Amino acid sequence: MDHFLYRDGALHAENVPIAEIASAVGTPFYVYSTATLLRHFKLFDEALDWGPHLVCYAMKAASNQAILKTLAEAGAGMDVVSEGEYRRAKAAGVPGEKIVFSGVGKTEGEIRTALTGGIRQFNVESEPEMEVISAVATQLGLIAPITIRVNPDVDAKTHAKIATGKSENKFGIPISRARDVYAQAARLPGLKVVGIDVHIGSQLTDLEPFELAYTKVAELTEALRADGHEITRLDLGGGLGIPYARSNEAPPLPTDYGAVIQRTVGHLGCEIEIEPGRLIAGNAGILVTKVIYVKSGEGRNFLILDAAMNDLIRPAMYDAWHDIVPVVEPAPGSDLAQYDVVGPVCESGDTFAKGRMMPALGAGDLVAFRSAGAYGAVMSSEYNTRPLIPEVLVHDDQFAVIRARPTFDEMIDRDTIPSWL
Ligand code: LLP
Repeated sequence: MDHFLYRDGALHAENVPIAEIASAVGTPFYVYSTATLLRHFKLFDEALDWGPHLVCYAMKAASNQAILKTLAEAGAGMDVVSEGEYRRAKAAGVPGEKIVFSGVGKTEGEIRTALTGGIRQFNVESEPEMEVISAVATQLGLIAPITIRVNPDVDAKTHAKIATGKSENKFGIPISRARDVYAQAARLPGLKVVGIDVHIGSQLTDLEPFELAYTKVAELTEALRADGHEITRLDLGGGLGIPYARSNEAPPLPTDYGAVIQRTVGHLGCEIEIEPGRLIAGNAGILVTKVIYVKSGEGRNFLILDAAMNDLIRPAMYDAWHDIVPVVEPAPGSDLAQYDVVGPVCESGDTFAKGRMMPALGAGDLVAFRSAGAYGAVMSSEYNTRPLIPEVLVHDDQFAVIRARPTFDEMIDRDTIPSWL
């Protein structure tokens, strides 16, 4: 459920008409709903109520500090994957002891920053990384808390580009080698092993792969304990999918997911961490854009928008479906038309949807891409020297710009011309 609904014939974000935001900030822009963010966070938090736990929001999904602060104030920790994300989380007021650091290529510099600034744990992805973390910690006279990410070789049954839990993927260490690697970790002076980490992929719409992976993690916990390791924490990753199309069957709910966790690992007495990103932010954000032209092509009509693939890359990159709805509610029985929905960028990949049946639209009409809150703004670029679009946060009947649109001068002035030119 989200808080982007039609009221009095107009799409609202909570109690703010979208058209009002569009007049104030111009199009295109992203807008997020505080109530939806909090609702989704609470669903996860409550689903794990049966034991000690921390929901570490995977901030790669949407990393504006206003979003981080909203979630942190509700009790969320953060999952970060770079020094930039770590610093951003700290800047938003998240304490180091609520930040977990994931990612396959953490550099010495990143490790040093996190160790000195405070960190809940590093989720280690390889033996060489483990040695570097130990060495940096030893230099600093600190002990680094770690989990080791295991690759359970489970098929997440999701898009190949976002599946991470099969042996051919670059993530984690093979679960079959885990006991050796944990033995090695125990011998390194700068580390304290605190648990196990696993993350098998994103946009999972079925609970079975989670069940398989977590069952393997439970078995591994028992084996590692028998080897003498203190396993007190299980980080079970993120990945629960969201409904992208209203017409589709809905993926499982966080409560069902929480029940799978309880069933598979609940008996171990470990503190549970999860790292959801998409389910918290995805349906808490929409992309609002304006029709520039409607162009009749050979046997098709193009709806040309002022948003493009640089603003929302998911359709071009993953063939992702986003529902596209008019901001003015169509009257019942109003005319439908079929469009190829495209942006102004100069490549054919700049296509959001092909042959989409939608209410008939004209130049100047506003439309919204639903489910654009996760992996939307964060994956945008300035391709074609198009400014990054603003982000807006709504809270009940108020809204605030949380990232302003840069001016053209700001963008252009970032280049420097070398002396020989
Ligand atoms: N934890 C780790 C270690 C991850 O790699 C990810 C996502 C998450 C948590 C959060 O997963 P979520 O709950 O959001 O599914 N750009 C792609 C998605 C990439 C996901 C990468 N890792 C998209 O737009 O679909």
